Amino acid sequence: MQNKKRTLLKAAAALVLAGSSVLAHADDVVKIGLIVPMSGPFASTGRQIDAAVKLYMAQHGDTVAGKKIQVILKDDTNVPDTTKRLAQELIVKDHVAVLAGFGLTPLALAAAPLATQAKVPMVVMAAATAMITEQSPYIVRSGFTLPQNTLGIARWAPKNGIKKVVTLVADYGPGIDAQNSFKKVFEAEGGSVVEQLRVPVANPDFSPFLQKVADLKPDALFIFVPSGAGAVFMKQFAERGLSKQGIKLIGTGDVVDDDILNGMGDVALGTVTSMHYTAALDNPENRAYVAAFEKANPGMRPNFHSVGAYDGMHLIYAALEATKGDTNGDKLLAAMKGQKWNSPRGPVELDAQTREMIQNVYITRTERVNGQLFNVPFDKVEAVKDPAKIK
Ligand code: PHB
Repeated sequence: MQNKKRTLLKAAAALVLAGSSVLAHADDVVKIGLIVPMSGPFASTGRQIDAAVKLYMAQHGDTVAGKKIQVILKDDTNVPDTTKRLAQELIVKDHVAVLAGFGLTPLALAAAPLATQAKVPMVVMAAATAMITEQSPYIVRSGFTLPQNTLGIARWAPKNGIKKVVTLVADYGPGIDAQNSFKKVFEAEGGSVVEQLRVPVANPDFSPFLQKVADLKPDALFIFVPSGAGAVFMKQFAERGLSKQGIKLIGTGDVVDDDILNGMGDVALGTVTSMHYTAALDNPENRAYVAAFEKANPGMRPNFHSVGAYDGMHLIYAALEATKGDTNGDKLLAAMKGQKWNSPRGPVELDAQTREMIQNVYITRTERVNGQLFNVPFDKVEAVKDPAKIK
């Protein structure tokens, strides 16, 4: 009897010890829940983000302020209900300190209320409708907004002989932002938008819209499609022969996304777009970034979503360093606000007021360089704040 009791006591003590060591271990780990589309039509966004997060950790280590960083990658397959369920599980079961990723606007919107409830910082790396950051005080955005990038081309076009434009955008948040902000700035600078067309996001068929553009004979067509959809658009644009008719192609850089640009062929040449990032940026941080990314991911070129992810990791690491490893959501958020650093995209700052990036917007022309297509920057607007939040 005595023996049995002693054995039981020993077993209980062992359990307590094991439990406390598990707890101590759990305390030393900071989990980041990374939710992105890894399959479906926007899988390229997930692949780019995943690759950039892995590169950041390979370069900066997986320990910050004495804590081990663990990224838990989840594929939401571009379904908002799935994003929401995954965010819930990551918060409740995995106790993540930070949520990150969010490839498209509807996916970011689905998770926003959970970040607020759980007081967990949510780093939006890709989705770009301006109002996203207003859906939760726990959201910070390491990517961009559409009004921010549209500003560049909307100012450039009227100074360069483009007076009459038709806009064609994907019919959801970022497209509507692009359409409205382009018109506002372009018309204030003397241009005229003669027609605003919207194409469905899912399986878009551009040809009836392109026919309409051909009939309207504008100086240029302004296009916004989300990253990943540009190749289909370019193919149909070439088939319609609009550039032969003298209609120029302008837009935000999403359509000539570096991930798929090289496969587009000559039709993309001469497209003028504005964007916060192009792989052709010539600065020391970007030269190193592109070389390291391509070495780690043979055959792949980093696009703007990858840089959103790389800089999102920087924000998380910098915040953890500032809090000395404290994962309290409010403390992390406070530490992220106002961070400034030199990104591959140039100098950036996370605006403490709006939780948006303040960054350069580059005007680029798509050209062939050493046999490959690149969006080559030739002008820039410096330190652009999200115009949608300037009252
Ligand atoms: C978005 O859904 O917010 C989005 C996705 C891809 C882009 C831009 C915006 O290239």
